[in-house]
Amino acid sequence: MNAVSTTRKRIGVLISGRGSNMAALLRNDCGGDVVVVGSNKAEAKGLELAQDAGIETFALSHKSFASREAFDAALIEQLETYRLDLLVLAGFMRILTPQFTDHFAGRLLNIHPSLLPSYPGLDTHERALNDGVKLHGCTVHFVTSVLDHGPIIAQAAVQVEDDDTPETLAAKVLVQEHQILPYAVRLFCEDRLQANGLRVSVRPIAPVIVKHA
Ligand code: GAR
Repeated sequence: MNAVSTTRKRIGVLISGRGSNMAALLRNDCGGDVVVVGSNKAEAKGLELAQDAGIETFALSHKSFASREAFDAALIEQLETYRLDLLVLAGFMRILTPQFTDHFAGRLLNIHPSLLPSYPGLDTHERALNDGVKLHGCTVHFVTSVLDHGPIIAQAAVQVEDDDTPETLAAKVLVQEHQILPYAVRLFCEDRLQANGLRVSVRPIAPVIVKHA
């Protein structure tokens, strides 16, 4: 009989605020277990949500460190104690050093509120409206050392309407973020993602082979 691995992936999530994407990961079966939620802000609302769900949390303030490198080194050290298979940046509003992105290369995902490679960085909804785009959306991608860049796993688009404001557009995009993040994490946990340069393909689910005596 073929050996089937039943080991569930250990997932860490980093947040800086509300934590609604992290909550979407907890709500859905992503094929793995969120074992820790960390934040650079002790007051991040999402930490309370995680605690209420019985998930271990930690806060590590970047303000206690003299440099970006020192903070990232301490964050790596903290995260290493959880033996993570996957680390998800879910609204973690920090620019990461190459030292950090290299450490987690291939097991670091980010959700970003735009259709990358359009609108990396901040204020994505406002910038999209100012440009008059008709489609906007969100992206889940593998993280590289380049900000909001890396092999794209999933995207979802929304229509931009004449009366949209940055707030209404953000709300529409957020609904889609809560769909594609659990979806992408699940694909990762099922070992179905294969990156070839910037292109990611999704392996089909292996068929179950039933052997007859
Ligand atoms: C989300 O819209 C996420 O895409 C964005 O921050 C928000 C966090 O919301 N992330 C970035 O802008 C990262 N570049 P949440 O805390 O409710 O998940």
